Amino acid sequence: MSVERIPFGLMPDGREVYKYIISNNNGCEAHILTLGATLNSFVTPDKNGEMRDVLLGFDTVDDYLKLSDYQGATVGPVANRIGGAAFDIGTKHYELVANEKDVTCLHSGGEFSFAVWSAIVVDSDAVEFGYVSPDGQEGFPGETKVKVVFSLKDDNKLTIKYEAVSDRDTFINLTNHAYFNLKGYGHGTILDHEIQIFAERYTPVDEMSIPYGRNDLVEGTPFDFRTPHLIGERIDEENEQLSFTGGYDHNYCVDGEMGELRECARVFCAESGIKMNVYTTLPGVQFYAGNFLNGTAGKKGVPMEKRSGFCLETQYYPDTPNKPDFPQCFFKAGEKYVSETVYEFPDCSEKSDAE
Ligand code: BGC
Repeated sequence: MSVERIPFGLMPDGREVYKYIISNNNGCEAHILTLGATLNSFVTPDKNGEMRDVLLGFDTVDDYLKLSDYQGATVGPVANRIGGAAFDIGTKHYELVANEKDVTCLHSGGEFSFAVWSAIVVDSDAVEFGYVSPDGQEGFPGETKVKVVFSLKDDNKLTIKYEAVSDRDTFINLTNHAYFNLKGYGHGTILDHEIQIFAERYTPVDEMSIPYGRNDLVEGTPFDFRTPHLIGERIDEENEQLSFTGGYDHNYCVDGEMGELRECARVFCAESGIKMNVYTTLPGVQFYAGNFLNGTAGKKGVPMEKRSGFCLETQYYPDTPNKPDFPQCFFKAGEKYVSETVYEFPDCSEKSDAE
């Protein structure tokens, strides 16, 4: 196991952006940038032992700043959408940046995702990224100190541990926005991937992708992934929810107890043999099928076409600050937010299957 740091590029104001590469003894590599504490690549062997990079992303700082749809980025202080780009805390009303159709606040306007984070190597297999979000940034109350630790061990588990503390009462909901393609980046769509999501319920949304506040059963709908289905099998079915979002782009209420690290999803690609299991301590996971990707050129100039990557964004439910019945992500001044997400890539070599 080792960690290497290399220069990645310069911000427009001249600040350096670095890339950290954590490698394990199976040849897996996690590449993480100080820009947005962003997962830039994840390299893992396929069933034949060939290495594939399973993440969408860009090769330059400029491309991340100009073209990104949050590829691999850490998102915060509040991931996903906030309806009306506003919330109340007690008697105080907070207006946030309305960066989506001038109405909703999406991914906090990218505040955490496009900031330059500090980084320190904390172990032979772990890097800690840090950022201090100023009070009032994008409308969010409090100076918030954030730590995100990425580690990659020989069990092929990429673990992301988050911590945040604000000096004011506020909402905190952090995630990572990695787009995966288990055939490898640049190898077509993810419609042929099989996915299983461990959730009996999901949160249906309105035309602006804001949840109604209900948790509906997935049973009898194209959202039922309690048993594995190909992503492409039902994605274009006639269904009001799918039509509002142009395909899967919904929060699932992960079964089991929030706070406990439990499996929320499993993805398998027969062509490469690569499997990914996702675990979270959080109450929800956004399954986004990359419906809005539109061919923007990414790494090595390869276009990121519609549905060429999928995201499993572990999170509190969208618009939680305005939905009192959802599990709450409200933190008092000084109270610590903690969460953990694991992306596991089990050994998929045909040799290991035969044994
Ligand atoms: C949202 C999508 C959005 C994407 C990129 C996802 O979390 O659910 O609707 O297009 O982020 O911003």
